[in-house]
Amino acid sequence: VQIRQATLEDLEGIYEVETCCFSNPWAKESIQKDLESPITTYVVAEIEGQIIAFAGLWKVLDEGQITNIAVHPSYRGLKIGKRLLQELVSIAVDAQIKVMLLEVRKSNEIARRLYESQGFKVIGQRKGYYQKPVEDALVLERLVE
Ligand SMILES: CC(C)(COP(=O)(O)OP(=O)(O)OC[C@H]1O[C@@H](n2cnc3c(N)ncnc32)[C@H](O)[C@@H]1OP(=O)(O)O)[C@@H](O)C(=O)NCCC(=O)NCCS
Repeated sequence: VQIRQATLEDLEGIYEVETCCFSNPWAKESIQKDLESPITTYVVAEIEGQIIAFAGLWKVLDEGQITNIAVHPSYRGLKIGKRLLQELVSIAVDAQIKVMLLEVRKSNEIARRLYESQGFKVIGQRKGYYQKPVEDALVLERLVE
């Protein structure tokens, strides 16, 4: 498994993983805008030229917002999500980000465990943040040294 920063050429691969993983996926155009944005960095995991996972970080001043993280269902439980998250933290360190933030569905215990294993802590809640199904988001934070 190769982990690397994404380019616009990875759009199709990222979009495929996105549609496999979420009930309310981002539009391809939204992912494209992110890939083209100077304040956003995506990382991908690739096996034999195929994108099997990705994660995105959006930088505003000294804050880093994790936009999304997803691993293709056939490749879960192999520490790929953890490696992508660690890669985003390392990018955040290099970018002099002081605090990383993200939202996660309250019921998404697997993702919550992943984030908590990497030092993220719950700091708040957003009522009815998600659609399909409607659900609250937890807001998680991690300070970056
Ligand atoms: C959340 C997700 C990215 C995790 O990716 P992954 O590569 O399967 O996870 P990893 O193998 O790196 O596991 C990392 C940690 O997550 C937790 N975890 C992973 N799979 C788990 C499972 N089946 N049951 C319980 N905990 C699990 C564990 O804490 C694990 O650490 P450990 O193995 O040291 O105990 C993946 O499940 C996914 O794509 N889910 C759908 C999309 C999603 O919900 N994204 C999050 C949006 S906020």
